[in-house]
Amino acid sequence: PSAALLDTRERALRDLRISVTDRCNFRCSYCMPKEVFGKDYAYLPRSALLHFEEITRLARLFATHGVGKIRLTGGEPLLRKGLEQLIAQLAALRTPAGAALEVTLTTNGSLLQRKAAMLKEAGLSRLTVSLDSLDDATFRRMNDVDFPVAQVLDGIAAARSAGFERIKVNMVVKRSTNLDDVLPMAEHFRGTGVTLRFIEYMDVGATNGWCMDEVVPSAEVIARLQQRFALTPLEPTAPGETAQRWGYANAHGAHDPALGEVGVISSVTRAFCGSCNRARLSTEGQLYLCLFAHQGWDLRRLLRDGSSDAEISAAIARVWGQRQDRYSELRSQGLGDAAAAPATTSVQRRRIEMSYIGG
Ligand code: GTP
Ligand code: 5AD
Ligand code: SF4
Ligand code: SF4
Repeated sequence: PSAALLDTRERALRDLRISVTDRCNFRCSYCMPKEVFGKDYAYLPRSALLHFEEITRLARLFATHGVGKIRLTGGEPLLRKGLEQLIAQLAALRTPAGAALEVTLTTNGSLLQRKAAMLKEAGLSRLTVSLDSLDDATFRRMNDVDFPVAQVLDGIAAARSAGFERIKVNMVVKRSTNLDDVLPMAEHFRGTGVTLRFIEYMDVGATNGWCMDEVVPSAEVIARLQQRFALTPLEPTAPGETAQRWGYANAHGAHDPALGEVGVISSVTRAFCGSCNRARLSTEGQLYLCLFAHQGWDLRRLLRDGSSDAEISAAIARVWGQRQDRYSELRSQGLGDAAAAPATTSVQRRRIEMSYIGG
């Protein structure tokens, strides 16, 4: 990797997550609860969104600072018109060493059946689908727009036929809602080449009414899986990886690659801020240094006031260089927001929503 940009805790900037829309066709209660994101909700106006050219310009500058992977998120990124053009532009970028950027996408899968082939064609490297249950009634309740699970499964199948490999499925586990879906989900994806990952329900944003009772610690998920399957821990594949990996084992207890693996993302019970190499760019071009940040850095202003590449590049370096964020670690020490943003007013202290900043 090239030209590492280090923050105050010596963490390199490697991963840029770009939200391309703050809209979504689902209303998952842990992310965009209907009571808040109703008919009258004021989404960003069109003029506020970064254009594809602006996003690509920033991505190119981030690549010169060592970013090798871009993840497109939302809201639901496939709702952004012409997204395949952006993907093609990003896939054409190169790192200073001449390597292509890895361009990935996190989607709820609802539009995948229609768009998978086009995404592959445009040069998308990988994709991750969010899916919280295989049980149709539970799934419809969790997306809260009565969307049938079969269509998401068809979307995953379409992605596979389009040639996507190493597809991941993210399942957010909430104790009162889908804990009983853990085993059926594992059963379903074991041996298919799709990697299922269980995510601890997090206190992102200010609207989802988070409480610890609803969090299912990853250790509990793994214990549940081990009652049915033999699992063996796997080494991390990349520094700063969010998931702990477990391989399905054969009769001798060794990982059986044909059976694949599962992962757990334990941002509540086992914070991974120490190696966090992720920056987030909001739909309107604010740069956030943490999923739990209260405040972003306005890159759109620089894009639109005639600043040169060198000036924007220097701004990115300055912002990352003073980064201190480690919200999940502070939360586990019982500190959380107060320590993360001691001097801010209560208005600024309101955390940004995941649908705005991107997962
Ligand atoms: P790859 O592992 O490269 O495929 O990326 P991915 O987006 O599929 O997975 P990633 O591990 O980046 O993120 C999966 C989920 O983990 C996200 O949707 C979030 O719920 C959570 N997550 C990702 N990054 C962070 C982070 O920096 N902090 C916290 N607290 N949670 C994160
Ligand atoms: N806690 C954990 N994961 C969440 N996601 C959205 N909101 C939360 C939350 N409060 C996940 C989605 C998706 C990804 C974008 O982030 O399920 O997989
Ligand atoms: Fe939409 Fe994803 Fe949020 Fe659900 S978690 S409301 S699918 S952005
Ligand atoms: Fe990174 Fe913030 Fe998540 Fe910690 S809480 S891993 S610093 S995004």
